[in-house]
Amino acid sequence: MPNSHIIGTGSSIPKRVLSNSDLETIVDTSDEWISRRSGIKERRISSKKEKESTADLATRASLKAIEMANVSPESLDLIVVGTVTPDRQFPSSACMVQKELNAANAAAFDISAGCSGFLYALSVVDNAISAGTCKTALVVGVERLSTILNWEDRSTCVLLGDGAGAVVVSAVPEQGGILSTHLKSDGHLWDLLYSSYRNGNSHTPETLREIDKKPFDLKMDGNPLFKRAVGYLSDIAREAMSHNALTSEDVGLFVPHQANIRIIQGMAKNLRIPMEKVYTNVHKYGNTSSASIPLALDEANREGRMKTGDHVLLVAFGAGLTWASSMLKWVL
Ligand code: UT7
Repeated sequence: MPNSHIIGTGSSIPKRVLSNSDLETIVDTSDEWISRRSGIKERRISSKKEKESTADLATRASLKAIEMANVSPESLDLIVVGTVTPDRQFPSSACMVQKELNAANAAAFDISAGCSGFLYALSVVDNAISAGTCKTALVVGVERLSTILNWEDRSTCVLLGDGAGAVVVSAVPEQGGILSTHLKSDGHLWDLLYSSYRNGNSHTPETLREIDKKPFDLKMDGNPLFKRAVGYLSDIAREAMSHNALTSEDVGLFVPHQANIRIIQGMAKNLRIPMEKVYTNVHKYGNTSSASIPLALDEANREGRMKTGDHVLLVAFGAGLTWASSMLKWVL
């Protein structure tokens, strides 16, 4: 059976930075509250002027991953995009990315799995490779949560941001690469985090005063989500390690979903791992949902945080509820 190797990573973030002090001017909040409760200092917000649609960000991240992988877009036979903020209800963001890349031989579709979208997409691709139906695939996580936020709701608008990350996965006979994926859902709890339908084909205006304050309907019950996030991330990390007969000492780097530094610290405490072994960038980008893990993975890769042969554990948790893991043996 072929193995799935990640052979390239890439990411793309909007140019515009929205700091906690910027947010102090539009909602009743403070840098002190946001930093202490979430660890977030700033986030990126997409802009029409900079041509930063969901498909644009996804394409830029993909081009970097493809360049690192040293493959041609024509060699891609599958493009799977995890997102809850596509530019349009249809066609999929994946088809728009396919067009921009000229990846003429790929089948392309999106996956909606909340903040676990990237790991769900990675799992689909890994299974297609194992089944022999795919040789080279592009997996993307991309979000523009700024387009569905209620900018008058301080309990959510300070937490989320925009960005994209991508990986190229290749079928090879050698061992290593994606060792396992585990996916979980609990639809009974969908109403802890949800959005009403809205065509996301819009951008946050350039100046804060112009931000459209019409309440879009992103609702989050933060506290119960927080407790479940810590518990489910810890549980699924343990399941991934036990499935691969590994302990936390065998894992070189943990790359968790970046929703809140306190959630990540809670997970690390449960797993008895030092924070030095956990990659975090939530302070720079906030919670970018499906984009958070591939964005963190690409930054960690480009910073040299993984060596060939290291075990890297990816864990996600989000709306649905969904949660997921993937254990990697790093091959780059
Ligand atoms: O991506 C996966 C899904 N998302 C998550 O997993 C997020 C999970 N939840 C969280 O990260 C945290 O629950 C939050 C960061 C959302 C909130 O932290 P918390 O420690 O759970 O605070 P809280 O919800 O209990 O709110 C505490 C207080 C409230 O005031 P009172 O009722 O104590 O007077 C809120 O009204 O903080 C108030 N508050 C704020 N104050 C200043 C809520 N948002 C803000 C704000 N600025 N932005």
